[in-house]
Amino acid sequence: MTNVYVSEHPLVAHKLTKLRDINTSPKKFRELVREISALMTYEATMDLTTSQLEVTTPMGSTTGQELKDKIGLVPILRAGLGMVEGVWGLMPNAEVWHIGLYRDERTLKPVEYYNKLPIAPTVKVCLVLDPMLATGGSAVATVDILKKWGVHRIKFVGLLGAPEGVAAMQKAHPEVPIHLAALDERLNEIGYIVPGLGDAGDRQFGTG
Ligand code: PRP
Ligand code: URA
Repeated sequence: MTNVYVSEHPLVAHKLTKLRDINTSPKKFRELVREISALMTYEATMDLTTSQLEVTTPMGSTTGQELKDKIGLVPILRAGLGMVEGVWGLMPNAEVWHIGLYRDERTLKPVEYYNKLPIAPTVKVCLVLDPMLATGGSAVATVDILKKWGVHRIKFVGLLGAPEGVAAMQKAHPEVPIHLAALDERLNEIGYIVPGLGDAGDRQFGTG
């Protein structure tokens, strides 16, 4: 599969296994989402552009680098919220633009309920954050929104994906790289990822 990057990092695999565990508490679940998101972002941002700058050290001066493009983190509410802190820890100057979508339980189609993007784009690169890429409807709709906003460098950073979601994203937005901690087997009859981890929003917020 082109443009799909599934982490092979042992730390990611270790933490993801704990995340899947039905006995993991919401507190521990949130901690793991935060930690895995940071590890995933490290991998997903390998190709960010930098520009050179001179830096003075206590011993002299040298040429260093700084991130060139303004970055926007775009968590899809609710479950993407839990990923923000982990990613923000690595890039504290990133802007955070929330997109509110929920999946209609019957149709499995995304319904938009929150979008406060200003008219003109304020960032060059967007990282769409959502732990679950199931049918792909939410991710596709969010990338649609960001493209319409005027951002064209977009990456999807998730935790678990289903083949159906990956296929939907590749069809709609083939140039958007998809970074996942694991690619699971399939969706079940109600659109949940199997083996998955259950409902990522409910498990984080204790609402299940
Ligand atoms: C979950 C998840 C994704 C979406 C994935 O959100 O966080 O946003 O489902 O499914 P899809 O790929 O089929 O669109 P949900 O709609 O359950 O809302 P929540 O995060 O508020 O719980
Ligand atoms: N949303 C979730 O939270 N979990 C799934 O398995 C699918 C969609």
